[in-house]
Amino acid sequence: MLWKEFYRPTDLPTALQLKADFGSAARFIAGGTDIIVDLERGRQPHCALIDISGLAELRTIQAEAGGLRLGGAVTHADLLANAEVKAQAAILVQAAIEVGAPQIRNRSSLAGNLVTASPAADTVPPLLALNATVELASVRGSRQLLVRDFITGFRKVALADDEIVRSIFIPSAEATRRGVFLKLGLRKAQAISVISVSVVAEFDRTGRVTKSNIALGSVAATPLLVPNIEAMMVGQRLDDSLIEQVAAAAMAAATPISDVRGGASYRKQMVKVYTTRALRYLRDDKIPPPSADPTIFLQTPAATVRNPTATTGDLSGQAVELTVNGQPITILKAGDTVLLYALRQAGFVGSKEGCFEGECGACTVLLDGRAVNSCLVPAQTAHGGQVKTVEGLANGDRLHPLQQSFVNEGGVQCGYCTPGLLMAGATLLEERPDGADEWQCRSALVGNLCRCTGYGKVLTAMAQAQTIN
Ligand code: FES
Ligand code: FES
Repeated sequence: MLWKEFYRPTDLPTALQLKADFGSAARFIAGGTDIIVDLERGRQPHCALIDISGLAELRTIQAEAGGLRLGGAVTHADLLANAEVKAQAAILVQAAIEVGAPQIRNRSSLAGNLVTASPAADTVPPLLALNATVELASVRGSRQLLVRDFITGFRKVALADDEIVRSIFIPSAEATRRGVFLKLGLRKAQAISVISVSVVAEFDRTGRVTKSNIALGSVAATPLLVPNIEAMMVGQRLDDSLIEQVAAAAMAAATPISDVRGGASYRKQMVKVYTTRALRYLRDDKIPPPSADPTIFLQTPAATVRNPTATTGDLSGQAVELTVNGQPITILKAGDTVLLYALRQAGFVGSKEGCFEGECGACTVLLDGRAVNSCLVPAQTAHGGQVKTVEGLANGDRLHPLQQSFVNEGGVQCGYCTPGLLMAGATLLEERPDGADEWQCRSALVGNLCRCTGYGKVLTAMAQAQTIN
């Protein structure tokens, strides 16, 4: 049993009261992409979970006087889809596309990334560079903190036992603001950063800098704001000489460790290289190319955010009622496990467990129209929801076009990864009924690892499926 008790409150006041009652013996869970892995690996104390993923009041993105307010359960996919975020905080969009894969981004929340406070978190350095604040709420009231004061140490934040991150606020720019996020990973996607650089600057009409921040990831115990950047840059134009000085200052501020992803001296050098590149992008008003197509979400046109049904008390011992492949089913005593295990217990054994950490995608299913890693979704989160598994792709004896093209093209060897690839691929075809090119297919499949067929035949099958009626 991964958690002690499980609650799915229908409104924020109830959620806050539960947290006040439990204190440190409960954790909020939004996407669960960090906490489920931590619980499974024993990195978190066994605790109760309070699921806030369906609370509509925490899923809002609002432009308001003085800035942009992002609710505490806003996902990385929500950020990528939102026009206000693109307009006011484009650097956050650049960072969000680097978080995991579509299945992760459909569940993982910006606030969760912040509360985990990993030094390698992709979206935290942009929040630092944007001078963002957090709004913390509890039954006692609310308070605001700058993100730079909220993170207090390695994976430590200034969150009291009864508090939640209700929202994250990004102040408006006073002048033209541009931002660039660059990340170095060991592979193109689904990678933890070796280093990341986030540069934000405002410019006056003459092109001189009026404000600036640079934040670094994976080079210290916490995401790091480079000191004295404003003093170096304000009033200046971004010429090559200034860029060189600033990049050297960023390198000097970095105090990385050596680990499996890179040595300390290599990381420091890469901070200089990537800061130089980021500042040049900023000067030339260019946005670096993303590693994946940010318009691919793996969401069907019918995707919804489902508010929790009225439930009270601990759900961990209770049955889960949901619709799977169009059929209503009840899975007994599934409240203490994840959706993957609940589905397999109910006979839907197509979804596979490969990694139990959101890396392999073998467990991909659709939940309420969104592709998710079912290993990281508490089964009770799906209560009342619509799930589609690989068993639901064929129409009677007629294979789905993608299944047929996998057969035709030999896109399968051992088959372990195939259900996940099929679910991701079929969702893309539904999302893009007018066709998906190779980059979009690759972008859709970054969260699905195959260790024997490889991807050439799979991509050929994706292309062929689009020609089958
Ligand atoms: Fe769920 Fe690998 S991503 S088992
Ligand atoms: Fe064997 Fe992909 S076919 S892991």
